[in-house]
Amino acid sequence: MAETNWQFVGKIEDLKSRPLQQIEVSGKKLALSYKDNTWGVISGFCNHVGGPLGKGCLEGDYIVCPWHYWKFHRQTGIGQPGYEENRVQQYETK
Ligand code: FES
Repeated sequence: MAETNWQFVGKIEDLKSRPLQQIEVSGKKLALSYKDNTWGVISGFCNHVGGPLGKGCLEGDYIVCPWHYWKFHRQTGIGQPGYEENRVQQYETK
């Protein structure tokens, strides 16, 4: 079984203050979201041409890339319906 390398990213109360933000873990930019008492972490780079997903906005459970508006599910990283193959990396949280 693979060992998970958990990283501390901040105090919960601080992180809850914004529904979507860019964080950096071990030099990697990630998009952290908090909505309906659940967290989501996906890659901070859009797989179109690298837009900063953590600086986009939330539309329902989708993060909207600020550059050309592609959408990715905030917890699974899967592209919006009809574009599911446009998936970005998803990360576990606890
Ligand atoms: S870089 Fe994200 S939609 Fe183009």
